[in-house]
Amino acid sequence: MKVGIIGCGNIADIYFKNSQKYFNNFDIIACADIKEDASVHYSKLYGVENLSVDKLLNHSEIELIINLTIPDVHFEVSQSILQAGKHSYSEKPLSIEFNHGKQLLDLSKEKNLYLGCAPDTFLGAGIQESKKILENNIIGNINMGSIAMGVAGHEIWHPNPDFYYKYGGGPVLDMGPYYFTALVNLLGPAKSVYSQSRTVYNKRIIGSGSRKDEEVIVDIPTTLVSQIEFDNGALIDSFFSFDTWKHNKNHIELYGDKGSINIPDPNTFGGSINICTSKNGEWETIATDKNNLGKINIHNSKKTNENPGIANYRGIGVSEMVDSINNKRLNRCSGELSLHVLDILDTIIKSSENDKKLQLRSSINEVSYFGEDEISKLLN
Ligand SMILES: NC(=O)c1ccc[n+]([C@@H]2O[C@H](COP(=O)([O-])OP(=O)(O)OC[C@H]3O[C@@H](n4cnc5c(N)ncnc54)[C@H](O)[C@@H]3O)[C@@H](O)[C@H]2O)c1
Repeated sequence: MKVGIIGCGNIADIYFKNSQKYFNNFDIIACADIKEDASVHYSKLYGVENLSVDKLLNHSEIELIINLTIPDVHFEVSQSILQAGKHSYSEKPLSIEFNHGKQLLDLSKEKNLYLGCAPDTFLGAGIQESKKILENNIIGNINMGSIAMGVAGHEIWHPNPDFYYKYGGGPVLDMGPYYFTALVNLLGPAKSVYSQSRTVYNKRIIGSGSRKDEEVIVDIPTTLVSQIEFDNGALIDSFFSFDTWKHNKNHIELYGDKGSINIPDPNTFGGSINICTSKNGEWETIATDKNNLGKINIHNSKKTNENPGIANYRGIGVSEMVDSINNKRLNRCSGELSLHVLDILDTIIKSSENDKKLQLRSSINEVSYFGEDEISKLLN
């Protein structure tokens, strides 16, 4: 399938690179950006056509467009892609407003087009193997859990970090998609949220690039502490912070009535799982690069000689969506899933603003296990 990209910033590189290196069912043939020098850069680097946004939207051969713009404009860009009659796959989050996300899902259905959204890291071995462990009832029913993401701030490395500190940014909308997409895959849909927030610093100093040492004013909460209740009864405590210089919290831990499981960083494709199945017992480590899913797939990188811990297969969600389109089934990084995740993120923020427990507005059916045979057929 012929594909275009709108938004040629920081994250675009890995999409261009991986489409040429790994995936066999789509070709990125053109790109566009409101800043022409940004799309010229990638067009030269990867030998694709540089177009205006309008020309890309109206390109007769392009069937799917990947939206890699900043979150604030995800809605308007994805909407214009669908209105142009093309399938839309966007970086996370689906939108910064639940109602806009819902409009995108409705529009995609009305036009009989596919809607997809990152993250696709949950398709990697870290989360998929954890899913298998839960499905095999090794940990029992999950009653409680804890998730944590704390960093000192993306301005340390990102050359244009403004959007992280403005309306639509913040740690929950930025990093929450990885954690909640993983959790919804593991536990099913969530139902309610209570949340409180803090803003520790009122300005940030850019640490790299041409704007190094420039100040960014912080307009939003930068730490959110929440309790999320899932339909299956699990109560999850959740910590998201751009104010944390260092911490030793685990990314995702779930506590069942037969044991505990420690799940690797959902912002990566691999990592080790730890389980404990006796009271006060030792952790047993399950290395996901050695499991039986791992012959030639994104789960262990043998085929590509990459370190599975750091292998970055961003774009597998696009490839899986192309395969879903070709085979007329629902894609895994679906509009439904990303809308439910957006609902959780948005409700966390609204709950903290209102200091009130809030019910979610959406739900989702189970997302099926992503197996080796399916992965293998997408790779070069
Ligand atoms: N940078 C990362 O490491 C990273 C990782 C994972 C996901 N993401 C996600 O990827 C998305 C992009 O992040 P980034 O870091 O690449 O941002 P960026 O600011 O580096 O790039 C965004 C690009 O989009 C362009 N753009 C903005 N509005 C546009 C519009 N209306 N039409 C066309 N182009 C437009 C900008 O000119 C810019 O070149 C975000 O949703 C972010 O959450 C980023």
